[in-house]
Amino acid sequence: MTAGGPAGARCWFAANLGWLRDPAGYHAGQRRRFGDPFSTWLGRLPLVLTGRPEALRTLFAAPLAAYAPVGVDMAAMLGEQALPVLEGEAHLALRRRINAVLLEGEAAAAGPAILAIARAEVATWPRGQAVPAEPLLRRLSFAVIMRLVFGVVAPERAEAYRAAFARLGRRSGIGLVLLPALRRDLGRWSPWRRFLAARDAVHALIEADVAEARAAPPGARFDTLARLAALREPDGRAALGDAAIRDTLMVLLSAGHESTAAAMAWTLQHCWTTPGVLERLRAELGAVPAGPDEAAALLRQPWLEACAREALRIAPVAPMMVRQLARPMSLAGHELPAGMLVGASAELAHADPAVFPAPDRFRPERFLGARFRAHEFFPFGGGRRLCPGARLALDEIRLVLAVLARTPGLALADRRPPRRVFRGPLLAPARGGPRILLQEQEA
Ligand code: HEM
Repeated sequence: MTAGGPAGARCWFAANLGWLRDPAGYHAGQRRRFGDPFSTWLGRLPLVLTGRPEALRTLFAAPLAAYAPVGVDMAAMLGEQALPVLEGEAHLALRRRINAVLLEGEAAAAGPAILAIARAEVATWPRGQAVPAEPLLRRLSFAVIMRLVFGVVAPERAEAYRAAFARLGRRSGIGLVLLPALRRDLGRWSPWRRFLAARDAVHALIEADVAEARAAPPGARFDTLARLAALREPDGRAALGDAAIRDTLMVLLSAGHESTAAAMAWTLQHCWTTPGVLERLRAELGAVPAGPDEAAALLRQPWLEACAREALRIAPVAPMMVRQLARPMSLAGHELPAGMLVGASAELAHADPAVFPAPDRFRPERFLGARFRAHEFFPFGGGRRLCPGARLALDEIRLVLAVLARTPGLALADRRPPRRVFRGPLLAPARGGPRILLQEQEA
């Protein structure tokens, strides 16, 4: 037993270094050496990690009381009412509200809006020079969140959000996340004061938009903000206060756009470099006519969907999902104490040859007519924390892929796969991802 768990790495420093250096290979190597589950480290906290089916089932099916908020106190940064900092009943109650809007809400208007945004963005991409795709896709994804989640239509308003959010990103160093001691106001130039100023600027934009959404006539808007503002308790009171909506929107923006952009970059990379994939995609898309039902028809195309899912399998953007035990848990024959961190590794599960033969190969056909189980394929996590933006993300990845596949003269300038590197908790392609080259338009 190591650190109260199964065998594994003894040195936290070496484990972190190994993982950061080789996010895709390190845990696979540890599993070969120690078995599954094995012990490793997240920062200085011991973590038991697994990619084994029955252990994953246990983790995702655990009851509400099994987990406590993960030991990094993020409420000061994300907001007291932000979904990731809540646990238990409070988490469940807010999740129900958000799911009602994001997962179960009316999707009919979203598809055409995503298609329109994707076409408008791609039309502005540079031509005749090789450029990294991921920053362009991040811009596109930000525009989608602005329109669909925030209900922002005016370009200058979206630009104000973009600038304020970028400043907040620059002020949210990993030091503030991991070292609570730094979260103190030590004067004008201290990191915490600068973080708070940047956060307040984003808050001010959101608060103004919440007020506007509350004042809009019922049913006038379909965006997430308006729908959250319209949720009512049985007695007619607003179900969510302004602060809860504001914190939720902050989380949706940060959780939603970089993840989707990274996933789209991997999809582009694999579809453009795997023989036959793009040709089959273009043939499928060629049969979908333009018109008001185009987005809905595209979202019914099996090869398009298989390509998106296979990219999420082979390069999961979120490599693992971590929980903290509120009480002891029995995991694949190991008795783990309360307080222990446990992790479900998508990286390991998605590379299981018993479920996905030749797992290193990009083979969309494995998803045709097949539905994998929740512990076999989980790019969006699982259990009570399953990503509430999964449907929006999958719709966006597919519709953007359709637009890219139909863009004449779009090629990769370099077919070598970029390295996978950490951007925050996400695994994104290094150096802006695949470099694309769009041919000059003929005069
Ligand atoms: C390809 C894109 C995306 C990927 C791969 C992704 C993946 C994930 C994963 C793995 C989790 C953690 C689940 C767990 O712990 O079990 C998560 C949580 C979350 N995601 Fe996503 N996500 C994506 C897009 C989005 C979008 C578009 C939104 C919203 C607009 C969103 C909102 C959230 C939120 C709010 C949570 C926290 C859920 C909670 O704590 O209950 N995500 N996502």
